[in-house]
Amino acid sequence: MGKYKPCMAIIKNDSLAAMKNVEILKKAVKILHEGGLVAFPTETVYGLGADAKNPEAVRKIFLAKGRPADHPVIVHIPEASHLSFWAVDISLDAKKLAQAFWPGPLTLILKKAPEVSDVLTGGQETLGVRVPRHLVAQALLQIFNGGIAAPSANRFGRISPTTASAVYEELNDQVDLILEGGQCEVGVESTIVDVSSNEVRVLRPGMITVKQIETVLGKKISDVGGNVPRVSGSLESHYAPTTEMRIVAKNKLEDFLNELSDDQLPVGVLAHSKIISQNTKYDVVRMSEDPKLYAHDLYLRLREMDKKNYRKIIVEAVPESEEWEAVRDRLKRAASFPEFLPS
Ligand code: TXA
Ligand code: MG
Repeated sequence: MGKYKPCMAIIKNDSLAAMKNVEILKKAVKILHEGGLVAFPTETVYGLGADAKNPEAVRKIFLAKGRPADHPVIVHIPEASHLSFWAVDISLDAKKLAQAFWPGPLTLILKKAPEVSDVLTGGQETLGVRVPRHLVAQALLQIFNGGIAAPSANRFGRISPTTASAVYEELNDQVDLILEGGQCEVGVESTIVDVSSNEVRVLRPGMITVKQIETVLGKKISDVGGNVPRVSGSLESHYAPTTEMRIVAKNKLEDFLNELSDDQLPVGVLAHSKIISQNTKYDVVRMSEDPKLYAHDLYLRLREMDKKNYRKIIVEAVPESEEWEAVRDRLKRAASFPEFLPS
């Protein structure tokens, strides 16, 4: 770390820029080969990458994030054909899911191959693997032609970055290069599915829903479970802003805001329905009523609100339906008082 200056590399489509992009990507690959850290965009959130075959490099990720060593990291590969190097006993269910959703926002938990380092798995017998579809991630992985270990590029427990500048804010002096790839399309982390045993389980909800997974597999699966904190995103407090955050049911929101006393102000309100209007007492940040668009902007808006010296961030509870599950899960973990005033 610290050998290269952090730099943002903008990936564009015209040919002169494309040549520069190749140079930047080659530099990123050189840094990875030398055991350095490269942050890169994926379609979900930005990742903090290191050569997955270099345990010393992977250890730097844990140091940079302040992440406990027993929390495993995901290995990103260019395509499913690389799976055989990283995993063994790949089930038919795993193959079906890889075929249906890769490249894309899905992480598969598989039995690790014997030579896979314990540093990646936190000592567990399983490994998380994913093929991202973001163009920059794809280009980087294809030139590197190997596995890149990458958790989200934030400090442990904080909101995942969905822009290159958010990565810079989180980790500026801890990373050798930041590849710029615009705002992430999905905006929340991948769906994690454990396919390491016969019982397929979703460990972390994401944009790919349980229903979509069941359709591909042609059977019912266990919904978000996991009794061990193998998924750091499954810890109760995670993905959190520093400002106190509360979720308030839609039908209680207006009264809740009106009852705030002056010493509880200013507050920021993250709302998706039109029930409250802008007010001198509080700032309203209007979110989309479409769960995909909401997810796309969620972390960016929370980051912005976190910088505003609000006493509290108040979030209007989102619907209970399945397409809101990933957003609901992240809001609950980000909130200091989740499930406050249930509807
Ligand atoms: O969308 C994503 O998944 C992003 C982008 C960068 O790919 N990555 C991401 O990584 O969110 P991270 O490390 O922040 O979250 C991945 C989660 C962690 O909570 C980790 O504990 C869990 O995956 N995980 C990794 N390997 C696992 C395993 N073998 N068993 C259970 N959970 C695992
Ligand atoms: Mg994370």
